[in-house]
This record gives sequence, structure tokens and C-alpha cells, in this order.
Amino acid sequence: MNFDSISQEPLLEVKYFLEQARDKKLRDWNGMTVSTVDEEQRPSSRVVLLKKFTDDGLFFYTNYLSKKGKDISINKNVSINFWWRELQVQIRIGGSISEASRKESEEYFNSRPKGSRISAIISNQSEEIESFESFQEKVETAINSLRGEDIKLPEHCGMYKIKPLQIEIWKEGEYRRHERTQFKLEGKKWIKSFLSP
Ligand SMILES: Cc1cc2nc3c(=O)[nH]c(=O)nc-3n(C[C@H](O)[C@H](O)[C@H](O)COP(=O)(O)O)c2cc1C
Repeated sequence: MNFDSISQEPLLEVKYFLEQARDKKLRDWNGMTVSTVDEEQRPSSRVVLLKKFTDDGLFFYTNYLSKKGKDISINKNVSINFWWRELQVQIRIGGSISEASRKESEEYFNSRPKGSRISAIISNQSEEIESFESFQEKVETAINSLRGEDIKLPEHCGMYKIKPLQIEIWKEGEYRRHERTQFKLEGKKWIKSFLSP
């Protein structure tokens, strides 16, 4: 993943830690917890992988008909959390989510191995299934029937883009003297403040 297009503070700071985590080869360094809220205001969180990060926002790939997709269709406010034990850093981002362009989603989808693309097209993510074995059988059947076929991005899958509106960077300090820096987007300007640990 390249972060070359990031130019704004505090996104540059987020980029700095992502690069540190990547360069230290931390396992799943790009994993982030995304929290959404359903129609009854019940929050729910899950880990996804950050696939692209630009001045436009943070992108991840998923199934638009999944539980998270349903939540997002009624509430665009989401919260993301990164934590890297080895860096002693936590980053919390609040933002607004939207579907990325078809082109952006296709670029990512087409870069995936065929096996992953097949799993994506046959998995009705978050739907109840009979058993894990029944899903595996479905995958096997699909692999055989789609041999030699070009697998295109299905309509119900793609990238989401999260536009950050609030960012908090938490750096662990000794004896609970953690450093918490908060940035809030007001208009086009990021306002910086500090929070008590
Ligand atoms: C390390 C890790 C990475 C994951 N990456 C993704 C991802 O990029 N996209 C995705 O849809 N699910 C990903 N998942 C699975 C999600 O956590 C979740 O199970 C799935 O998206 C269904 O969530 P939902 O039912 O809340 O919609 C990942 C899980 C883990 C543990």
C-alpha cells in the first residue's frame, strides 16, 4: 500500500504510524476495528483491513449486503480504531462513510487472487448458513464451474471510504502519563487540542 498522496496534517501523522507498523512487519499491521450502529442505536464492531489511504479517506473492501453494510445504509457515522502494541500507539478516527467509486473497487478486486475473488462472489456475508462444511462445498463447486472464467466484481461488493472528521492519537507513556492529541475538522481546518489521559 502506498501512502504517497497524503498531504494534510493530521493524516500525515496517521500515515507515519501506519508506515512504522508496516516497516516493522507487524502481523496484520493494517487491521482496523470498524464500529457501526444499527437502526436501534446498537453498536457493533469488527476488524477489517485498510486497503488504501489517501487525502480522500481510508478504504476497506467488503460486502455491501453484510451486517455492517446494512448498518451503514442507515447511519453513515462510523468509528475506526487502530492499536499496535509494539508501537504503543492507538489511533481513534470518527468519520463519515460512503461507497467508493466502482473504478476504485474494481481496481482492488482485480488485484486479488482468483480464489479470493471466487469466495467473495459466493459468500453472502453475515447471512446464516447451514454449516461451515456446506460453505466449503459451495466454494469447491464454484472453483470447478468457474475454471477459466474471468471473475468480475459483483454489484454487492466493493470498497467503502471513510472520511475522517475526528482523529485522536494516543501514545503510551510511563506511569499512565499517556499523550493524547485530538484533531477535529472544522470546515476545512483541523483544530488541534490535547486530552487528559
Ligand atoms: C484480521 C482480520 C481481517 C479482516 N478483514 C476483513 C476485510 O477486509 N473485509 C471484510 O469484509 N471482513 C474482514 N474480516 C472479517 C470481519 O471481521 C467480519 O467478520 C465480516 O466483515 C462480517 O462482519 P459484519 O457481519 O459485521 O458485516 C476480517 C477479520 C479479521 C480478523
